[in-house]
Amino acid sequence: MKVIYWSQTGNTKRMAELIAKGIEEQGKSAELVELSEISVDDLRSEEVIIFGSPAYGAEELEDTKVEPFVEALEGNISGKKVALFGSWGWGDGAWMKDLEERIESYGAKLIAEGLIVKELPEGEDEVRCIKFGKLIAK
Ligand SMILES: Cc1cc2nc3c(=O)[nH]c(=O)nc-3n(C[C@H](O)[C@H](O)[C@H](O)COP(=O)(O)O)c2cc1C
Repeated sequence: MKVIYWSQTGNTKRMAELIAKGIEEQGKSAELVELSEISVDDLRSEEVIIFGSPAYGAEELEDTKVEPFVEALEGNISGKKVALFGSWGWGDGAWMKDLEERIESYGAKLIAEGLIVKELPEGEDEVRCIKFGKLIAK
């Protein structure tokens, strides 16, 4: 399974690593993929799309790389399962709610509510990320 992420300061990347660990603990293989390494075309054969992005702008997605990637998912992920995650700093998680709604409006099915962690995952938040990975791989 590909764990796709974009991360400016490493917090969402750390979430991606922990989610990958959970997937592997569940007996599946996990590959970490930075957003710029992949195009939407590469996702055609993927049954499950796992994607992480931090909150940016004002409760938005980063606009030069992440926003275009999400826009390109429209028309290409209908019927697929999707798991979303991301780190945030000071807002109320609105960016994740918006992202969930967009992904559902593209015809995909969310495996679970998007996993959000404040800044760098540590302690209990590390456990939450690993559990999320296990849930995705089930
Ligand atoms: C330009 C910029 C805009 C941000 N906007 C928000 C925001 O709207 N809401 C929020 O909760 N956090 C916001 N943050 C905080 C980041 O989401 C937070 O630091 C997150 O952990 C960064 O994840 P990353 O290390 O994966 O890049 C912003 C950070 C930056 C640098």
